Amino acid sequence: MVKIEKADRIKDLPPYLFAKIDQMKGEMQKKGADIIDLGVGDPDLPTPAHIIDALQEAAGDPKNHRYPSYSGMIEFREAVAKWYQKRFHVSLNPSTEVISLIGSKEGIAHIPLAFINTNDIVLTPDPGYPVYNTATLFAGGNSYFMPLVKENHFIPDFSKIPDEILRKAKLMYLNYPNNPTAAVAERPFFEDAVKLAHHYQIIICHDAAYTEVCFDDYRPPSILEISGAMDIAIEFHSLSKTYNMTGWRIGFAVGNPDIIAALGQVKTNIDSGVAQAIQTAGITALLGDQTSLIEMRSTYQERRDLLVTGLKEAGFEVSTPKATFYLWVSIPFGFTSTEFTTHLLTKAAVVTTPGNGFGASGEGYIRMALTVDKDRIAEVVRRIKDMNF
Ligand SMILES: Cc1ncc(COP(=O)(O)O)c(C=O)c1O
Repeated sequence: MVKIEKADRIKDLPPYLFAKIDQMKGEMQKKGADIIDLGVGDPDLPTPAHIIDALQEAAGDPKNHRYPSYSGMIEFREAVAKWYQKRFHVSLNPSTEVISLIGSKEGIAHIPLAFINTNDIVLTPDPGYPVYNTATLFAGGNSYFMPLVKENHFIPDFSKIPDEILRKAKLMYLNYPNNPTAAVAERPFFEDAVKLAHHYQIIICHDAAYTEVCFDDYRPPSILEISGAMDIAIEFHSLSKTYNMTGWRIGFAVGNPDIIAALGQVKTNIDSGVAQAIQTAGITALLGDQTSLIEMRSTYQERRDLLVTGLKEAGFEVSTPKATFYLWVSIPFGFTSTEFTTHLLTKAAVVTTPGNGFGASGEGYIRMALTVDKDRIAEVVRRIKDMNF
């Protein structure tokens, strides 16, 4: 028998966040339970029809059957630059300051390979999207976790990071609007981050996957709006949540040309770019009719209001997020996050995500995704009220 020995880098990884919940959910489903899944951040809404039409047409064109360009079709990068100008009033050079990604996760996961040497430090939000930490570990680096706590509106308190850590840090991940806390950050915070990054020579990687999932009149800023950000920052965007295209795998990074070029250098050795037909559909998404975006926002907003109101009536502490399709809910006294997630699953057949799965500072919370329709949200509220906390 050949012994299959995994490398330490994957042997030592923290367990996959959803594995245990998936297993319990599967067992309950086999027994016929009517499960409502608020666990995974994957839009239930379809991709708008005009984007699908663009893909169908592009798929038939033989010029789109060959290898795409590594950094993305120039037409796609021009569309990104136009979209950025319109949305954030930031000018980008499509040739050097934009790169296509196979979903933003791909870029977020590869960027440490471009900058992190063994034992270099990466500043990482806690709780946070798990890829920041695993990508750091894959590159041989160490995460220094910046707690996101309610008292500081779920933004990192830079004054609490020791000077010797800041001196050693090479890269910092930020993410606003934030997953999992649903917090937003304003320009003064980004100004502080850019100032800090300049002082300590830290590359900022701002994950902006949720900037377009926003409510009422609120529009989240881009870090690149801040003076000096272009010297030190890149921003990751995704078409996944903006246009309900999670399955299509298309995103992009924009910002400092040297950082973009280094990411590109890693990528040329790993992947061969985004399929051209998908990029063509991406251009239609970015520059075409934006009605679906308005509809998407109002759909999540209605669901948000329904669930926030219901949870409050049931006695929960939860605030109304200005952006993202998540609620970050304080759990009742006496439970850990994992215990409460299990409790909701076994007693109400509702799947949620334990906050501590996103990092130690997520303990005391669960995350609920607004990715089921209004009737199912109303059913969640009914079931939770019946549990009597
Ligand atoms: C904070 C955050 N960043 C990035 C991603 C990755 O999105 P995609 O790879 O689909 O662009 C996600 C997906 O859930 C996310 O929550």
